[in-house]
Amino acid sequence: MKGIVLAGGKGSRLYPLTKITNKHLLPVYDKPMIYYPVQTLVDAGIRDILIVTGGNHAGDFLQLLGNGKEFGLSLVGYTYQEGEGGIADALKLAEDFVEGEKVCVILGDNIIEKDISAAVDDFRRQECGAKILLKEVDDPERFGVAEIEDGRVVNIVEKPKNPASHYAVTGIYMYDASVFEKTRMLKPSARGELEITDVNNAYIQEGTMTYSFLEGWWTDAGTFSSLLRASNLVAKDSKAEPHE
Ligand code: G1P
Repeated sequence: MKGIVLAGGKGSRLYPLTKITNKHLLPVYDKPMIYYPVQTLVDAGIRDILIVTGGNHAGDFLQLLGNGKEFGLSLVGYTYQEGEGGIADALKLAEDFVEGEKVCVILGDNIIEKDISAAVDDFRRQECGAKILLKEVDDPERFGVAEIEDGRVVNIVEKPKNPASHYAVTGIYMYDASVFEKTRMLKPSARGELEITDVNNAYIQEGTMTYSFLEGWWTDAGTFSSLLRASNLVAKDSKAEPHE
């Protein structure tokens, strides 16, 4: 299985921090943000990873991650998203890298406590389709929200005003190679982006979407409060500084 870390976007909700760097290079406690999603993929046994970035600071990713040796990667690739076409638009750039394999996509600002190996292994055994990871949250209106009926996800709504559940769709997605066909069918949403939620709904329509619940804590880090929360959660778990 291949891995993709999506690390583009303007990071406008973190301005002016993102005036001089990419959001995914900002510190989360003791490491640059992008280290966490890369490590999540590596811990799940994924060794071929593509970094999709954009904006004015793309070169800094190469300087930071280099050939991926520090993470034990076999292959690290870099590509560049022009403009602000959204998550599903960034994903399109990975088609040649993925070479028809299955893929695990993680948003570069999603930081989690536990290992996702069990879910990734389940998806390795899943014949085709997709798998998402859900997390129960207090503020579902900030996320894609899954509606579940009889143990199946029947619909996902992006940032709903009246959420059907408290199950947020986390930024960790597993897809078969038909994902690229699906991204080609998408139309831009009201915010002018190709939405990952529309990709997921295409799999739901097809009847091939499965899900698991994510264990441990999960946070994004794209706003001042979530960035601070991410640092605090990592710091609390960190065994590096036992004197603190
Ligand atoms: C994106 C997705 C959303 C998902 C979230 C997870 O939102 O569109 O469905 O729940 O990531 O972090 P964004 O943070 O880009 O607004």
